[in-house]
Amino acid sequence: MRELILAIESSCDETSVAVIENGVEILSNIVASQIKSHQRFGGVVPEVASRHHVEQITLCIEEALEEANVTVEDLTAVAVTQGPGLVGSLLIGISAAKAFAWAHQLPLIPVNHMAGHIYAARLVEELAFPLMALLVSGGHTELVYMAEDGSFEIIGETRDDAAGEAYDKVGRVLGLAYPSGKEIDQLAHQGQDTYQFPRAMLHEDNFDFSFSGLKSAFINLVHNAKQKGEELVLVDLAASFQASVIDVLVAKTVRACEQYPVKQLVVAGGVAANQGLREKLTVAVETHLPQVKVIFPPLRLCGDNAAMIGAAAHVTLSQGQLACMDLNANPSLVFPNKKDE
Ligand code: KG4
Ligand code: ZN
Repeated sequence: MRELILAIESSCDETSVAVIENGVEILSNIVASQIKSHQRFGGVVPEVASRHHVEQITLCIEEALEEANVTVEDLTAVAVTQGPGLVGSLLIGISAAKAFAWAHQLPLIPVNHMAGHIYAARLVEELAFPLMALLVSGGHTELVYMAEDGSFEIIGETRDDAAGEAYDKVGRVLGLAYPSGKEIDQLAHQGQDTYQFPRAMLHEDNFDFSFSGLKSAFINLVHNAKQKGEELVLVDLAASFQASVIDVLVAKTVRACEQYPVKQLVVAGGVAANQGLREKLTVAVETHLPQVKVIFPPLRLCGDNAAMIGAAAHVTLSQGQLACMDLNANPSLVFPNKKDE
């Protein structure tokens, strides 16, 4: 049977609506980015984000249906991001999804945004379990062990800043536009790792991360140099910062895959677009984990988008976990804990 899910994502600063067939095929994936509106503030302004979502959401729904060449009658269900994210932003997507589901008598599927990031990989490759996911975004840095579809066990996470957050804060100090991960990645490829930055928790016997010390070391170096009137080499600064982030991410991910018997490693979230991370992780997996297949979703599926929400929703639907009309946004939604169920 042809299963068509209309998926809605509005957790942060992208309004996105997609139509996904059978959990794997993208019929449409409309993404309306608000980045230009937030850039002048140096970060996402929640109130501004909510207003943009209100303006964009119905247009995106119409466009997604039109581009997919399907009608409302063809749809099987409506899926929506429940959290984590900005509460005002989430509420716009949830309200739209509820109204749409109610008006057309369709089932409503609640989706965890981070599960969506992982399931983006399913749009390009069949998933084989058990698998490990390295989730690296603007708000999260986690190693997630998945024994089977829909089962998530966080085995390690950041104790302070997320990897993407560190990129954005460091970029701000350098006067780069928000979000600065992509630009730092590009600069890093033109420079050398010449400045000494810490690799926090690298040798500790756990799978946790910490990036706030690196951020402080970076900011101190830049401020001290400014005070002394010393010139710093921008591309080398970027390369040294990036090497520090990547060294820890790669080492801990490899160790996690050695300890857990995984078939695949999925790298997901906005920072999964990082070229340096892709290169280093690919080599490390080839060298140390020849039995593990590493999957990097294409760049357009690494950042926030509704296609990944539709892919995750397919699994939620198959497990019968539907939402009622009292579904509420949960800005700090965590993965369901199987043991507590
Ligand atoms: O997953 P995402 O789109 O939104 C969240 O759910 O947070 O991730 C956005 C983050 C931003 O911090 C951005 O700077 C970072 O991903 N990012 C990158 C790159 N592209 C985006 N970080 C490092 N290298 C990149 N190429
Ligand atoms: Zn995200």
